[in-house]
Amino acid sequence: MSELQNIQWYPGHMTKTRRKMQESLKLVDAVAEIIDARIPISSRNPDIDNIIANKPRIILMNKCDMANENKTAKWIEYFKEKKITAIPVDCKTGKGLNLFFTTVRNLLSEKIEAWQAKGMSGKSVKIMVVGIPNVGKSSFINRMAGKERAKVEDRPGVTRGNQWFTIGRGFELLDTPGVLWPKFEDKQVGEYLAFTGAVKDQIIDTELLAVRLLETLNMNYSRFITERYKLKNPIENLQGYELLETIGKARGMFIKGGEIDTERTSIMVLDEFRDGKLGRITLENPPQIT
Ligand code: G4P
Repeated sequence: MSELQNIQWYPGHMTKTRRKMQESLKLVDAVAEIIDARIPISSRNPDIDNIIANKPRIILMNKCDMANENKTAKWIEYFKEKKITAIPVDCKTGKGLNLFFTTVRNLLSEKIEAWQAKGMSGKSVKIMVVGIPNVGKSSFINRMAGKERAKVEDRPGVTRGNQWFTIGRGFELLDTPGVLWPKFEDKQVGEYLAFTGAVKDQIIDTELLAVRLLETLNMNYSRFITERYKLKNPIENLQGYELLETIGKARGMFIKGGEIDTERTSIMVLDEFRDGKLGRITLENPPQIT
């Protein structure tokens, strides 16, 4: 993980994005912040609350198909307590997205009523879509904009490169102007992002990553591992490479000489976790849950 810790994205990259986002915020009515429902803390930019400030916001807990349903509900409750509306969505299939329009209209009801009172009921609702890489921003925009998605031209006076999409029902989406980085410098965040595949494997040792994932899963989800790999004995007391080797052995992954092929096992475990094959797993709990 030391490689991850050494990546210093701040301040250069974020300063630019922050400035662009603050300029673009003036053009929108609300912000849709997309997060990964499996890692609701690590998949957020640490400055996002400051950047968005008082702009109305909806959080889309994406990839909820791969997250634990109860924990997603608890997260939604947690955000509600913080006066933020969050909804679970699956942008791969589009599940939950029908709620987006009504939720945003509710959020902006006063503003929309004011438009109507001024005879501007046809005015479109403009939403800026934000999120760190890989949370599913493109999937969301593509889903919402559909096949005939119309990309609106750069508008005069607007930060160059701003991408607008008309999505019907009187809504327009603005893609994040710039790249919103996660909190890479935090070791735990780096690990979770690597587990979910949001960080490229090339910069981290695959076996070490798989071992860390298994150790993490073994704390709350060991049953998922024993079931998936049909392990005969409990694994709660196993640690580190023992976990990887037990799985490799159970899957018959050997190299010449009967040694367990830990590299191939690592790749398989990581792929299966990322594909949701180990089960619906949420790695981060809302702060009040112990
Ligand atoms: P980004 O623009 O924020 O960077 O994310 P993008 O939409 O490219 O999505 C990143 C990956 O997450 C994609 O997988 C995408 O299919 C997947 N994804 C997005 N939303 C969901 C969801 O709700 N559920 C699930 N299970 N997956 C989701 P990929 O492996 O990069 O590509 P592919 O699988 O689509 O080929």
